[in-house]
Amino acid sequence: MESIWTKTCRMPAFPSLSSDMDVDVAVVGGGMAGILIAYFLKDSGLSVAVFEKDAIGRGATAFTTAKITSQHGLIYTKLIQNIGKEKARQYAAAQQKAVTCYRSIIEQENISCHLEETSSYLYSTADAEQLKREEESAVSLGLPASFTRQTELPFPVKGAVRFDHQAQFHPLQFLRSVAAKLKVYEHSEAVRVSGHRLYIRAAGETYTVKAGRIVIATHFPIRNFPGFYFMRQHQELSYILALDRAARLKGMYYCSDPGGYTFRSFGRFTLFGGLGHRSGKLRPGDSYRRLWHQARRMYPRAALAAHWSNEDAMPHDRLPFIGPYSLWTPQLYVATGFQKWGMTGAMTAALALSDQILGRNDGHYDIYLPQRLSLSGLGPFLADTGHTLTHLILQKPFVPYGKKRCIEKGFGPTCTHLGCTLSYNPADHTWDCPCHGSRYSEDGTLLSGPACRSLKK
Ligand SMILES: Cc1cc2nc3c(=O)[nH]c(=O)nc-3n(C[C@H](O)[C@H](O)[C@H](O)COP(=O)(O)OP(=O)(O)OC[C@H]3O[C@@H](n4cnc5c(N)ncnc54)[C@H](O)[C@@H]3O)c2cc1C
Ligand code: FES
Repeated sequence: MESIWTKTCRMPAFPSLSSDMDVDVAVVGGGMAGILIAYFLKDSGLSVAVFEKDAIGRGATAFTTAKITSQHGLIYTKLIQNIGKEKARQYAAAQQKAVTCYRSIIEQENISCHLEETSSYLYSTADAEQLKREEESAVSLGLPASFTRQTELPFPVKGAVRFDHQAQFHPLQFLRSVAAKLKVYEHSEAVRVSGHRLYIRAAGETYTVKAGRIVIATHFPIRNFPGFYFMRQHQELSYILALDRAARLKGMYYCSDPGGYTFRSFGRFTLFGGLGHRSGKLRPGDSYRRLWHQARRMYPRAALAAHWSNEDAMPHDRLPFIGPYSLWTPQLYVATGFQKWGMTGAMTAALALSDQILGRNDGHYDIYLPQRLSLSGLGPFLADTGHTLTHLILQKPFVPYGKKRCIEKGFGPTCTHLGCTLSYNPADHTWDCPCHGSRYSEDGTLLSGPACRSLKK
């Protein structure tokens, strides 16, 4: 699959690991989170290495829309209700700081990555009242929010919350420049973590990396126990089209209504996305075709330049997990659960984990601690567990009729994570897991976790 980012940026190649090594900090995962965490530690005097199973920037970071914003959908009113105003203010401040940090790094390192300062809009075609409440909540937390009815969208809206001084960029051009300053090993897959040892498989050999600290930044954590992240978040899949000859938008747009669309421009392209759903919970038909149909209604002259899909890890209480992996593994850290906002989420993780690893923790990032107890997450936790158990017990996949004939006994293959039966995604021709969202290509090759093994052929 190619996105507009992978089509417009040539990434450098890094070597694979070829011997055992000792390092102060080992970072697993060469996406936005892993690379930024290593970047923040590189001048600390500690030795740091990043291990990437594929190539850097080929995971979720390659398939984002790359809006850099503290506007994360309808979140601030809910956060104030769920965790109180002080903690909601901490969330808002950290995300807004992340926006500023991108700007500082880009200026400091002189990175050319199409950075544009712009406004971010959360719009609704159905309900202005909840947007007004969201605007009041955001303002009360110190965010640069205002309510407006003016947008550049090709349809009328009831209203929008506008956040000023936000940004958008080319994520891979940024990642490439930052990674150039780091020690990175590609095609080097972490296959086991045990105490201070990381076992890395590269070119058919397994090497041991002894590390003082290990950070798991693999989008969805690769280790089930301890931590139990597969029970604390689920994954959602969204689809994006890059349109040529559509309108050029100055702002970035995200819809607060269920089933709404997302928009931003990149050069002459308009990125248009939506039709998100829980991974593995599929409807018949092709999501790209439906999205394209919508796009043509709005922009009749548009041509399709690229299309892709991507998954988000969605924690039950809507807060990312950033900090020690578990109470029993003080040397092991995690950064996951960025929901749909992993650009600022990754930057927040890098700031928080570098502080924790360097012993500078001042409590500003405590709301993200993975060991938090959260009442607001209880309902979604129960619903999620029910969903997973139903799929595990009933083994009920989605397999379209044409595909069913090809599969023995009419069932899809079984996920290598915990054994749910996979559903067939006709848009991407992938096998997607309805339990925790692992994805496999049609020939069974693992595309994304939490599973760590491809399907048996
Ligand atoms: C459609 C869509 C649009 C989005 N748009 C935005 C947006 O506009 N703004 C925003 O803030 N966020 C957005 N997001 C979210 C954001 O893109 C992601 O949260 C972010 O890119 C995640 O970065 P990451 O580093 O955690 O994961 P990744 O980029 O997936 O990096 C993880 C890396 O770990 C590697 N890995 C996995 N297992 C192993 C292993 N065993 N050993 C070694 N390496 C391993 C993978 O190969 C991968 O390269 C969007 C998401 C979606 C789905
Ligand atoms: S991802 Fe957990 S069972 Fe498939």
